[in-house]
Amino acid sequence: MRKLFFLSLMLFALSAVPTKAHKNAQQDTRTIRSGELWPDSDGQHINAHGGGILKFGDTYYWFGEHKSEHTSDALVGVMCYSSKDLLNWRNCGVALKVSDEPGSDIERGCILERPKVIYNKVTGQFCMWFHLELKGRGYDAARYGVAVAEKPEGPYRFLYSQRANAGTWPIEFGQRELSVVDTLQESNFKEAWTPAWHKAVGQGLILKRDFRSGQMSRDMTLYVDDDDKAYHIFSSEDNLTLHIAELTADYLHHTGRYTRMAPAGHNEAPAIFKHEGTYWMITSGCTGWEPNEARMFSASSIWGPWTQHPNPCVGPKAEKTFGGQSTFVLSLGNRYIFMADIWRPRHPIDARYIWLPIEFENGKPVIRWQDEWSPAIKENP
Ligand code: GAL
Repeated sequence: MRKLFFLSLMLFALSAVPTKAHKNAQQDTRTIRSGELWPDSDGQHINAHGGGILKFGDTYYWFGEHKSEHTSDALVGVMCYSSKDLLNWRNCGVALKVSDEPGSDIERGCILERPKVIYNKVTGQFCMWFHLELKGRGYDAARYGVAVAEKPEGPYRFLYSQRANAGTWPIEFGQRELSVVDTLQESNFKEAWTPAWHKAVGQGLILKRDFRSGQMSRDMTLYVDDDDKAYHIFSSEDNLTLHIAELTADYLHHTGRYTRMAPAGHNEAPAIFKHEGTYWMITSGCTGWEPNEARMFSASSIWGPWTQHPNPCVGPKAEKTFGGQSTFVLSLGNRYIFMADIWRPRHPIDARYIWLPIEFENGKPVIRWQDEWSPAIKENP
């Protein structure tokens, strides 16, 4: 009897001491290590690329592209992971599934990139927007897609996809700008990338080309401002100019009010946040899956004017965004996390994540490389 008592006491004591493996697993998820594998709660590398984060209640939801072993085409859809501390993530499954119906806009094998989700307080719906390319057409369609769900993790119902703001000029185009647009003819520019062509692109050469059919919509993000107005920010005009387009109150359509940002500046991968009344936008140049130098802009109104600043990255490979490309900035009260993707086009599922804190120096954001750090979430409101 006494023997049994001691045995059970020992077993109890042993169960309270974490085994080495268990301890290591706990330590592994106490820090963010950009560029390394990031296992979810099942031990699988997180598969949510070109992603963004929504906080709902006390939970963070990470949405991103599911990537496969050998292709970046969408064979599965948009994944969702949840976490309370931004370190330990649970796989909530496929939030938006690609369709098996031939001819569907989101048919399996389409390109579905950079999904972002925002919550609409009025309708109580979760609204997902993403960059969509129709199956078999490369990057020609240049559309945005919209889906909704009643719960953050989905399932999301696909609503529609299209090009942006057909038949509408940006808000800054008055009589003067429109009379210049009238004079622009694509046939006058046999050669692209000349100074004259650049100037014409800035004045609206490609905007005019796509005026009737709708503006191209590729790399994108969503932003909800303090007044609950939401905006869709996307690479348009052959990726030469970003557009910032206001959303309707239900966050499911454009209102038709939009502005062009950095015309002819060739920006992709927009990520935006607001700090003490200033909007900051981080973007990349356009070199496909290859990393390039991050760009940064600021404005006191989302409608601009936007001012360009030097690259905010500091540290090894800072001139190549540490080997990554921006996707999102997560705001935690007055702290911010810069999120980027290290693409692996030959083994897409193995793409890695860069998450780094944004610091402020002399009033400007700085993104300093850190091998390892912790966001130390203390549930900021
Ligand atoms: C990048 C873009 C990615 C993906 C890729 C395809 O420039 O940011 O989202 O579209 O090109 O080459």
